[in-house]
Amino acid sequence: MQIVVDLTRCQGYAQCVFLAPEVFELHGEEALLYNPAVPDDQLDRVRQAATACPVQAILLGKE
Ligand code: F3S
Repeated sequence: MQIVVDLTRCQGYAQCVFLAPEVFELHGEEALLYNPAVPDDQLDRVRQAATACPVQAILLGKE
């Protein structure tokens, strides 16, 4: 599955990093790095991260 993080929305809440550390990585407070091509074994975690993000910055693509 492909994902996009709207970096103009991301406020560095780091819920995504906590829930899916293999996909999301935070450098400093607002520099979020992520793998846009989510491996299958990370899908559930990324879905949880998308739900948990307080500003809905994580957008899930088609599987
Ligand atoms: Fe940013 Fe949301 Fe993650 S604000 S750091 S995408 S939880």
